Formats: sequence, C-alpha cells, structure tokens
Amino acid sequence: MRILVIGSGGREHALVWKISQSPLADEIYCAPGNPGIAEHAECVALDPTSSIELADFAQELRVGLTVVGPELPLTMGIVDEFLKRGLRIFGPRKLAAELEGSKVYAKEFLQKYDIPTASFEVAHSPDEARQILDRTGLPAVIKVDGLAAGKGVFVCLTPDDADKAVEAIMVKKKFGGAGERAVIEQFLEGTEASFIVISDGRRALPLVTSQDHKTLLEEDKGPNTGGMGAFSPATNLSQDMFRSVMQDVVQPTLVGLEKEGRRYAGFLYVGLMLTPDGPRVLEYNCRLGDPEAQVILPRLQSDLVVLLHSVASKELGRAKVEWDTRAATCVVLAAEGYPEAPKKGMPIEGLEEVEDMEDVFVFHAGTKREDDQTVVAGGRVLGVTGMGEKLSQSIRRAYEAVGRVRFEGMHFRRDIGLAALKGRASQDKEGKE
Ligand code: AMP
Ligand code: GLY
Repeated sequence: MRILVIGSGGREHALVWKISQSPLADEIYCAPGNPGIAEHAECVALDPTSSIELADFAQELRVGLTVVGPELPLTMGIVDEFLKRGLRIFGPRKLAAELEGSKVYAKEFLQKYDIPTASFEVAHSPDEARQILDRTGLPAVIKVDGLAAGKGVFVCLTPDDADKAVEAIMVKKKFGGAGERAVIEQFLEGTEASFIVISDGRRALPLVTSQDHKTLLEEDKGPNTGGMGAFSPATNLSQDMFRSVMQDVVQPTLVGLEKEGRRYAGFLYVGLMLTPDGPRVLEYNCRLGDPEAQVILPRLQSDLVVLLHSVASKELGRAKVEWDTRAATCVVLAAEGYPEAPKKGMPIEGLEEVEDMEDVFVFHAGTKREDDQTVVAGGRVLGVTGMGEKLSQSIRRAYEAVGRVRFEGMHFRRDIGLAALKGRASQDKEGKE
C-alpha cells in the first residue's frame, strides 16, 4: 500500500519511521517532510493545508492511506475533502476537530456533557476579560480561543501577568482572529498527563500514557511552548485513575460528539490535570501530541499501519495493540530565540554519531539540508528519545545522546522526567503502566 503522511515535525518523523516498519507500507510519501523523514519516505513539496492539492496527489498516486499529523489541516477540513473523494484517510473531520480548533467550543462541550474540567467564562473584549478577572480573582488561566501552536495559554499568578496576557491577546491581537475570544478559567493545582486514544468514534483504544513538559524553562518556568520534552509512561496516573479517565472522560466525549453529529475518528488527545479531586480536562487535541509521539511510538510493538487502516476503514473492533514495557524519554533541542523568534541556518553536528546509538532515536523537526549539511530551520529542531528499562535509565540514555549533538545557540531543558522520578522514588513503581 502507498501511504501519505502530512506534516513536517518530530511527530511526523516518528509516524513515518514507525509506518516504515510495516510490511504493508510499500511506498511512503510525506508532505512536506524534513531531512529525517527523507530517510524513510519520499518528501513531496506540498503545503499541509492545501487539501485540494493533497487529495489530487493521493488520487493520482493511488495512495491507500493518508495520515494527518498536525492540527491545522484537520481543523481546516482535509479529512472531509478526502472522504468526499472516497480516499481513505486517518483523522477527524472538521466538525470533530473543532474540539481542538476552538477552546470555547471545547469548554462548552465539556460543560454540556458533564465531563470534569475547570470552571470558566468567555471574554469577547479586553474590558470583559478584565471584569471577569476582577470577579474571579487570581490565579487564573487565560486561553486564546483558536489555534496558537501551544503558545496561547497564560497562567496568571499576579495582576501584572493577567494585564500582559489580556493586552497581548485582545489589545495587540498577537494571535490575530484566534484571540477574538478568550477562555478565562479556574487555575487547577496538580500534575499533568497526556492521555491519548485511537478511536473510530465508538471504541477507544488507549495508547500508553505520557507526560509533556510545556514550559520553556526548567522547573516549569517561562512561557508555554509546543513542548520541550516528554516521557512515557506517565508516572502519576494510577490504574484507578486510568479507568476513571476512560469511563468519565473518553467515553462521554465520544458519545457526546456522536450526539452532536460530530463522530470522531483518529487520535484523540486529552490533556489532563490530576487534581486532589480527580482528573480534570485541560484541553483536547485532535491528533498525536508532539513530543508525546516521540515517546509513545518507539514503545509501540504492533503494526501502526494495521491500526490506522482499521480506523480509516471503521473496523477498530478487531485491532490489538502491544507495547514495549520499557520507558522512553524525549528531550527537545530548541533553536536560539525559540519560542519567540528562533534563529535559523546554523549547521548541526553529531547527528551521525547519535543515530548509531542503541536505544536512541533522533527525530527531526526544524531541520533542512543546505550545502550537504543539516541545518537549523525551525524552533524545535530535534527530539532525542532514549529508551530504558526504567524511567531513570531512559532519561540517562536520552541525555547521553543529547550530549553528542551540537549547534550554535542550542538549548534544552535538563530536567525532563526528573520531577516524576523524584515523586515516584518512594513508591517503587517507576516505569510501570
Ligand atoms: P492547554 O493548551 O489548555 O493544555 O494549556 C497549556 C498548559 O497550560 C497546560 O499544559 C498547563 O500546564 C497549563 N494550564 C492550562 N490550563 C490550566 C489550568 N486550568 N490550571 C493550571 N494550569 C493550566
Ligand atoms: N505536546 C503538546 C501538544 O502536542 O499539544
């Protein structure tokens, strides 16, 4: 079968790499891809948001399965275009992807279906935002309604934080139309987990759990980014919590979406805050997480193509999934200036050396080839994943590999997985699901 993957980040590199291990994948294409992806797939210079051209390409080349990595094409309706033409594609339709495309929609949906989440109000103007904040007090969290690549959420502890967030979103309109409305929600205390399932709309197969590190700096300081690192399994989700998330969050979400005429197919990512009162939904994403994919997919032992194909053919019922019991940790190497204004063009050294390391996977994100060199071409440049029997070993492996990669201005967090390690040391359950 010919397979087309859409996107060009670390998540798509992990998807293409895993797909390339399937005996069902005869030829793999990626639009537009990156130099790491080019090792396993033919990269085609098509924009991920041009649904018509991508569908034309899939039709001409008789692609048997298309897999969409990022949220933007999904929220723009790429799946609808492919399905209209009878092309098999993995991912939610536009209406279902609105769960990620609009935080206002997601919060209203959560409320309507009584799915546990933080209380909230919606602001349509800077004055309204300030009034809501005066009423609810601080800390509070202000979220841009539309897509913002993980950068549209402001956790406000002080009046100054809140003023700056309202100013950036609603006065300076830093996020354009995405910031016309903002969700102002209750600040929740707890630890976070990324809970991702693969669903055909009725049945949900949970993937292994993971935890992401969203802030730029160590100890969860600094602005939110797309994600600076991740590890799997999440060490903070007990089996009871896992069951409760499936029962009280995932199932009602799927049932609710079907009732709304928005039946869901694809990866459904639920961002959770595990509070003393139980799990609360922070957000939905309509895709695999990035960098969560870079720790989840290396643990997948089953054939990814079989899984994706079964969802795209509405037959998930028969699919089975097996996982490597080892832990995985991914450290993101970012360019100087990320997330505000990443600097580009610097050559990357040490790649060949780390690619040969055992239990290490290097996933390309913001890279490109220039004059026979791989150079920095985006904010999150590489994701370096290490595997190990225990979380501690996977962390060590990942950082051993990171130590061999260099580019000017490279920065990364040195504490990926460490808080989990400390929290779990006394429980001796590290590395178990
Ligand atoms: P989101 O994109 O909505 O998941 O928000 C990005 C990050 O902001 C989350 O991963 C949390 O670290 C933080 N965050 C979002 N909502 C809340 C909340 N209600 N309370 C505390 N932190 C939050
Ligand atoms: N790593 C968070 C996300 O993919 O949204």
